[in-house]
Amino acid sequence: MTALNAGQFPHARLRRTRQSAFIRDMVRETQLSPEHLIQPLFVAEGDLAGPIASMPGVSRLALAQLVDECRALHALGIKLVALFPVIPQNLKTDDGREALNADGLVPRAIKAIKAAVPELGVMVDIALDPYTTHGHDGLLDARGNVDNDPTVEILRRQALCYARAGADMVAPSDMMDGRVGQIRSVLERDGYKDVLIMSYAAKYASSFYGPFRDAVGTTGALKGDKRNYQMDPANTDEALREVAQDIAEGADLVMVKPGMPYLDIVSRVKREFAMPTAAYQVSGEYAMLRAAIGNGWLDEKKALMEALLCFRRAGADLVLSYYAKQAAQWLREGKA
Ligand code: PBG
Repeated sequence: MTALNAGQFPHARLRRTRQSAFIRDMVRETQLSPEHLIQPLFVAEGDLAGPIASMPGVSRLALAQLVDECRALHALGIKLVALFPVIPQNLKTDDGREALNADGLVPRAIKAIKAAVPELGVMVDIALDPYTTHGHDGLLDARGNVDNDPTVEILRRQALCYARAGADMVAPSDMMDGRVGQIRSVLERDGYKDVLIMSYAAKYASSFYGPFRDAVGTTGALKGDKRNYQMDPANTDEALREVAQDIAEGADLVMVKPGMPYLDIVSRVKREFAMPTAAYQVSGEYAMLRAAIGNGWLDEKKALMEALLCFRRAGADLVLSYYAKQAAQWLREGKA
């Protein structure tokens, strides 16, 4: 045994804490549980309900199905759902005014969920894209750019409309400047001081949103791209400035989006601000995983659970994932 006492070997064997399940379980640094997962759900008027081709396994739900799904999610330990409406073409306008309709699809959905499953948190997207004919998140100016300040004015009214319907959390996903502060002010003024704001603080102009735009029917309509309001994928310091601004304006939780290609941003944001931080495994990430799984190239459960755990390790307290329900089921089976 010539290696005996040669340097550190074999005193430091890092494999010792990997050798069997008991010790691996004890030294694991990161945990994943259903309460870390947020389930995005698409809600549609009856005739628009149905499967989404680019997101196999995900459907647009009619109101009654949505409520059933929320019951099931709650039973699995999911604490929060994120609602996205699919608005019929005839209700879309240039100014997206349907977003302010107190009897619109989202207010009805919030009320139905809160009546059936009051303990389940309901988060709603604040942005105009499902409601506009041009598919942008706000009002267009003469040059076709999204006009910041008039858009913020509508977004604060949209947030108030959803708060009145009973939303627990509003999530501005539009990337206008100053919208978090304006939404916070109106909520304070009108008696909704406890409504949470999760801001899509560092949201990038990403090609990974494609299947989502199919799901809400904005793909064909979208003129141009969103690069004059969503962030450049090349930037990271700018993400910190975005997050700092939203915190100063009154955000309770901050989000980074997309997820897996942006885990460096998640990590920086969590370290820098120590805020409740969410990451969004977006529709394109879901589609990639599903496609590989569908072809038999990845093991569904193993690949998914690894991906979700890695979000947590990077610093995400919360993960929005179209796989939230399935993951919660697997976590439950694992415990049984
Ligand atoms: C729109 C919005 C988008 C997503 C959430 N809210 C799309 C976009 O910005 O074009 C994307 C979610 C996903 O891809 O899963 N305000």
